[in-house]
Amino acid sequence: MNALTRDTNAWRLIGSIDDIPSQGARCVKNGETTIAVFRTADDRVFALEDKCPHKNGPLSQGIVHDGCVTCPLHNWVISLETGAATGADEGRTASFPVRLDGRDIYLNLEPNLEMGA
Ligand code: FES
Repeated sequence: MNALTRDTNAWRLIGSIDDIPSQGARCVKNGETTIAVFRTADDRVFALEDKCPHKNGPLSQGIVHDGCVTCPLHNWVISLETGAATGADEGRTASFPVRLDGRDIYLNLEPNLEMGA
C-alpha cells in the first residue's frame, strides 16, 4: 500500500447528502469527538470538529456561506476547507476528509494534518 494513501478502512459511510439541509450541518459522533458535516449551497461537503477555535461554540449551528461557517456565539468566520479562522482572528479547528460518491457521504476519521505553522 502506498504510504501516502489513506487507510481505506478509515472511510465510513455516514449517510446521504440529502440528510443535510442545504447550507446546514449534521453531527456525527466519534467517541468523545463530535464532527459537524456541512453542506454548502452548491452541494459540496466539508467536515470539521464541532468546536469553534475561539471558545468551543457549536459550529454545526452556525451559518454556512461562501465556503465558510460563521460561529453562532461570537461570529468568528471559519473556513470549511481548512478549519482555520479567517480575517484577523487566529485559531484552527480540526478538519476531516470527506467525499461524495453519488449522494453518499463518506467521512474519514483521521483528521487532516495541519499545514504550516
Ligand atoms: S465561540 Fe465561536 S466565535 Fe466565540
